[in-house]
Amino acid sequence: MTLDFFREELAETAAALAAPGTGLLAADESTGTIGKRFEAIGVDNSEENRRAFRTLLATTPGLAEHISGVILYEETLFQDSTVTAGAGPSPLVDLFRDQGIRVGIKVDLGVEALAGALPGETWCTGLKGLAERAERYYARGARFAKWRAVLRISSDGCPSELSVRENAWGLARYARTCQEQGLVPIVEPEILMDGDHDIATTAAVQEWVLRTVYGALAVNGVFLEGSLLKPSMTTAGADCPERSSAGQVGEFTLRTLARTVPAAVPAILFLSGGLAEEDASICLNEINRAAHQAGAPWHLGFSFGRALQHSCLQGWAGSDLVAGQQALLARARANGEASLGTYQPGSQPSSDASLFVANYSY
Ligand code: 13P
Repeated sequence: MTLDFFREELAETAAALAAPGTGLLAADESTGTIGKRFEAIGVDNSEENRRAFRTLLATTPGLAEHISGVILYEETLFQDSTVTAGAGPSPLVDLFRDQGIRVGIKVDLGVEALAGALPGETWCTGLKGLAERAERYYARGARFAKWRAVLRISSDGCPSELSVRENAWGLARYARTCQEQGLVPIVEPEILMDGDHDIATTAAVQEWVLRTVYGALAVNGVFLEGSLLKPSMTTAGADCPERSSAGQVGEFTLRTLARTVPAAVPAILFLSGGLAEEDASICLNEINRAAHQAGAPWHLGFSFGRALQHSCLQGWAGSDLVAGQQALLARARANGEASLGTYQPGSQPSSDASLFVANYSY
């Protein structure tokens, strides 16, 4: 297909994912990563347990009020749920869609060491065969996609120019390829929180990265109205002695985005990146407060993985459906309100466990 064939549909999908008061549930953990989550709650990483947990997510009553889309891993996209209706088990995709939640798919195949760059720097793989995979995902009901490129900041020169250029270019090629198959690309240049750099350093690096990303998207002819950005919030490194306040995160993040992201992009949906549940909500709330004052053009929402599912996993612990769903709904509500700038800190239950994992992989 061509991008022109899908242009209207892409814009419509992106606009739906940018609905006020909503965000995305990033439930696309690879089998290895969900295994680590399950291990922490004493649950076996079997296909049955992954099916059960993802059925819990898909059947949470009222989830669509705050969740406009869900990002799935390939296994889940093609997996049946534990719910039986009529002839047999309902596909998980159908349960989400029946609620009015759009389905997305992680399409990158993970990162690898980047030859010629600094130690620890990576490039994101998955371009070969992507058009064919995207076509299959569309046929199964997916309407948007995610590709997570990872950059790091270090005192010995990361990110290198090579890493910034390579990751921006990969994102742009992925985005164009997905659009030609009808999938709205989430462009995710994650800057890891690892390191002791201050917030001003993060802001400077993120401006450089985002400028490069939007330059590459332009060269590849990506249709911005049919795309979404998923950045990290602009915050100090996890080991920085000066912690950033939520107010600082709000101001720096908005400044960074205002300097770099075209107004044609409908929504900016942040990753939580290792922030604790409540911290992520409060920072998102502050970003929106700053955005309202400045009259920012985009919907500023969330696409959280850890910060939406941590309490949910703890509550479920392999068997308690209701506790898991209540916890998920509480964080979805908190973040939905935060994306309007109306969240009252502490008004929804949360865990204050640190969700930071050094050198995180998804
Ligand atoms: P976190 O919110 O856990 O950082 O994950 C979001 C995500 O999808 C990263 O690609």
